[in-house]
Amino acid sequence: MKEKTCQEKICQEITCEEITYKDRPLPYARASITQAERDAVLKVLSEPNPTLTQGERLVEFERSVAQSVGAAHAVACANATAALHLALVAADVKKDDHVITQSVSFCATANAVRHCNAVPVFADIDEGTLGLSPCSAREAAEWVRNAEQPVKAIVPVLMGGGADACNAAALFRLKRKLNCLLIEDAAHALGGYYEPEQQQPIGCGRYADVSVFSFHPIKPITSAEGGVAVTNSERLAERMRCLRNHGREKRGYEHDEMIELGFNYRLSELHAALGVAQMKRLQPLREKRRALAEHYDALFDRSPLIDCLRPLQRGLRRHSAHHLYIVALDWQAFGMSRRSCMLALQRRGIQTQVHYIPIHHHPYYRRRGVCEKPVSLANSERYAEQTLSLPLFAAMRKSDVERVVATLEGLRQVP
Ligand SMILES: Cc1ncc(COP(=O)(O)O)c(C=O)c1O
Repeated sequence: MKEKTCQEKICQEITCEEITYKDRPLPYARASITQAERDAVLKVLSEPNPTLTQGERLVEFERSVAQSVGAAHAVACANATAALHLALVAADVKKDDHVITQSVSFCATANAVRHCNAVPVFADIDEGTLGLSPCSAREAAEWVRNAEQPVKAIVPVLMGGGADACNAAALFRLKRKLNCLLIEDAAHALGGYYEPEQQQPIGCGRYADVSVFSFHPIKPITSAEGGVAVTNSERLAERMRCLRNHGREKRGYEHDEMIELGFNYRLSELHAALGVAQMKRLQPLREKRRALAEHYDALFDRSPLIDCLRPLQRGLRRHSAHHLYIVALDWQAFGMSRRSCMLALQRRGIQTQVHYIPIHHHPYYRRRGVCEKPVSLANSERYAEQTLSLPLFAAMRKSDVERVVATLEGLRQVP
């Protein structure tokens, strides 16, 4: 019999790993781990003299991520929050500097700015992509300029793993004009593209100076915890590597010298080994999620919910990393609040999430001087009220998608 190709084996592993959630709680996300990946981690521990940190798996993991996105350098860290922080420090973001970003994100995006004692300036999102609106970012930059402050960086978020080449190009022009760095929070977006036809993977460096991916358990692929910053700048990569390891640099054979105040943001070999093994399934897992997202779209297109539920980011289906499947609901027309709907779904064994409440709504960010909101955030506020993320992960089946849609249809209260 013909030997199975590597890709066929990978696809078979994914299929074997699928379990039915018919009579079980359906989480909104779940990591997909195969036996080969478990073995890769155990192998590190089974070596006679195991190197548990800063070894060859780290180098392999970085090489694999850099190659997959077409970047010259990759710097792996303990998590993506650490990687974002390193990128901002490497970009010389300091106390009271201003960084333009979006409020619709996980708090880590703005926290990385605050860890530099700098000020996040929130601009609005683009409704189609849920990323930073170039128009609103320009307005925010104008406000910062009038306040006679420099903008040190722009940090767009590739929400749910989707990016848009036109918006990325517009933000690139803005960063050129402001003479600052563009650091992409691509925590959701490994495996996605700005433009598939032109072979522009997210992280290739065409638009951003640095892109940061997360390998948290529910991200496109995982290293349990982990984050990777990719860049084409040798200077930024070297500075991030040095800062990741306490600010130390090799000085000859004998010793390292600490040349600036850095951090311990290193990633262990166990995490790196899992990351290397998962990288082999990056595109098959993404394809699986894409097929599930398209199944949701097709079902919602012919659903009676069409007047109150709208799948978001549909224009990005072909090229997103498909980390999330996000819908916007008109809760009044649906006949119940989001909270009641999430509880009712939970009681029926379906977990959902809100990605995200805007960062400026968190109590910490409501404090004076912690952030700036100089422009209208109308899209962000509307999105935050309507949004709901439905279950999406590679081990789901199409029947699970059908169950989610049917359950939502059953919950709708018709007056
Ligand atoms: C948009 C975004 N940025 C940054 C992070 C931080 O990632 P990590 O958990 O790897 O630090 C997350 C994690 O959920 C995220 O969703």
